[in-house]
Amino acid sequence: MSPVSSKGDGRPFGVGVIGCGNISKQYLKNLATFPDVRVLFCADIDAGRAKAQAAAYGVPASGSPEQAFEHPGVQLVVNLTIPAAHAEVAGQAVAAGQHVWNEKPLALDTAAGRGLLAAAVRAGVRVGCAPDTVLGAGLQTARRLIDDGVIGEPQSALALMQDPGPQRWHHDPEFLFRRGAGPLFDMGPYYLTTLATLFGPAEQVRNAPLGFKLVEQPPYPLEIVDRLEIIEQVGMAAHDQLAFVALPARPARETCRHDLLRQ
Ligand SMILES: NC(=O)c1ccc[n+]([C@@H]2O[C@H](COP(=O)([O-])OP(=O)(O)OC[C@H]3O[C@@H](n4cnc5c(N)ncnc54)[C@H](O)[C@@H]3O)[C@@H](O)[C@H]2O)c1
Repeated sequence: MSPVSSKGDGRPFGVGVIGCGNISKQYLKNLATFPDVRVLFCADIDAGRAKAQAAAYGVPASGSPEQAFEHPGVQLVVNLTIPAAHAEVAGQAVAAGQHVWNEKPLALDTAAGRGLLAAAVRAGVRVGCAPDTVLGAGLQTARRLIDDGVIGEPQSALALMQDPGPQRWHHDPEFLFRRGAGPLFDMGPYYLTTLATLFGPAEQVRNAPLGFKLVEQPPYPLEIVDRLEIIEQVGMAAHDQLAFVALPARPARETCRHDLLRQ
């Protein structure tokens, strides 16, 4: 597959943003700072939200996701929808011949993720996925220190995330407690990507429920995968714990452990 490039006509790469909720502000603000890309279209199932974000960030047009797929100038779709819609929206963009940058998680399950990547290969387009934080200064410095042998051979790793939960700040937090989110799928990608980047891909993943219980039920369903164990191929031990406290009145914890056993 050839590298992604503009059409060679000197014009910026055309971008369509689909999903104009909370995180779209940051994307739209930052994308405007790069001279080689231009956001041409904002789309959302909520047309008013798409229109408002287009107006706020100087995007020339807005409308439905279908209009974004049909837009002749949109070469890449930035998919900022909720996790349950990620694979479907990305798949439609790929079918329209557009590259995709997807927010995490890529899909709700492995089959949908693999299906999306296979479709992209067939269509000759590229699919990328958050998080890109592993490319930042902190983790690249860690990468260099390990590569240069400064800390010797790592024998273990520890990743911890504890946060009172997104219900404190998100305008519409229901999806963050649904399948495809929760601490494991919503925050876990940052830590798992770090472990995979620094120590190599997981060889085996096991997943078991922890018995997550709430005394008080929020006004939306909770569907959270709450425990994960990994045996990684690099022959080292790592421990990864992720927790949301779902309700301030009665803390509930979700724990994700990756026991990477020395082989
Ligand atoms: N909020 C954050 O700080 C943050 C940070 C990093 C990553 N993310 C990721 O970004 C994604 C979006 O998060 P958010 O906080 O912006 O959510 P949000 O609920 O604020 O926004 C999601 C938007 O997607 C739209 N949408 C839902 N289904 C759609 C579909 N099928 N087609 C078109 N539009 C659709 C919704 O109407 C909504 O406007 C999630 O995957 C999340 O994990 C969020």
